[in-house]
Amino acid sequence: MPESHPFDKSILDKLEALQAKYAAMGQDLNSYLDGLLHADFLTYWDYINLDTLLSLQHPITPFPDEEIFIIYHQITELYFKLSLHEFQQLQQADAMDSSVMLKRVNRINRYFEALTHSFEIMVDGMDKDQFLKFRMSLLPASGFQSAQYRMIEIHATSFDRLLKEEFRAAHADHTPGDLMGLFDKIYWKAGAVELSSGDKTLTLKQFEQKYDDILMELAENCFGANLRSFWKNLAPGQQTDELRNALRWLDVNVNINWPLSHYKSAVRYLQKNPEDIAATGGTNWQKYLPPRFQKRIFYPELWNETEQAEWGKGWVEKEVFGVK
Ligand code: HEM
Repeated sequence: MPESHPFDKSILDKLEALQAKYAAMGQDLNSYLDGLLHADFLTYWDYINLDTLLSLQHPITPFPDEEIFIIYHQITELYFKLSLHEFQQLQQADAMDSSVMLKRVNRINRYFEALTHSFEIMVDGMDKDQFLKFRMSLLPASGFQSAQYRMIEIHATSFDRLLKEEFRAAHADHTPGDLMGLFDKIYWKAGAVELSSGDKTLTLKQFEQKYDDILMELAENCFGANLRSFWKNLAPGQQTDELRNALRWLDVNVNINWPLSHYKSAVRYLQKNPEDIAATGGTNWQKYLPPRFQKRIFYPELWNETEQAEWGKGWVEKEVFGVK
């Protein structure tokens, strides 16, 4: 008489497949089934490490709005991490074509658009009185020290495009061996200097100490493997209009829209006349943060001369992309 059991064929097939899988590794399926029998069911809170996540906010002053400031920075860093995740997958792609690139660039655009649209949480969402007090306890820390932001830039374009404007043309054809020498000419080395003396701030010095080597190594890895080089090296016919448009959006999102929404918060909380800023050891942020001064442009080949000259003057979205 045939033995009867409650399993349908699909389960028996899976057991057989599992048996083969474990046997191939010299493992005993039965022992693993024991483990499964005793294992707990997965919970939402364990899966996303919720308790750890919610324990990562440690205000250092009694002002309640500092919590908002910390959490919004953390949210931003997570979106930066998502963007880097896309860049890394692009670098590891088996073959590069326009659809592979488009998928990743569209994702990064979505992350930056989410960040730009939510920046009001900073611009309008904290009491100015509280902010001006708790920020004094955070010195010399600054979002300027966000290494992931710099990593995104290094992945997005060739290294010459990240130099101060006056050095870009001369180094357009740099080689990997030039990178070390170019590192001091990178635009953000001019970002955190004291308005009164022109000296590097402690903010910058600490950042350099922690991240210069890491960023240099990344720049070497991205030489010939950054988004701009992928675009330039696409096979004929692969430089589609759709991809060109997505890359232009990336340029606008990272180099105009996010910096402008960020700049608005600096203006709301920190606007003073330059002499007062210099007197308190402040930085030259009014000349540094607005996109129109530095003209950071990842993909100059995708913009005409007027568009580059007018960079960050607010009309790009409306005039170029027809956004009302
Ligand atoms: C009230 C909110 C904020 C204010 C007032 C503010 C202010 C500033 C200022 C004045 C600078 C220039 C450098 C310096 O003087 O330290 C700066 C740079 C920077 N901040 Fe913020 N910030 C705010 C929020 C944020 C947030 C939420 C992020 C997200 C990570 C962030 C990321 C950055 C980055 C990446 C830079 C360097 C920008 C560049 O090099 O072009 N900031 N910020």
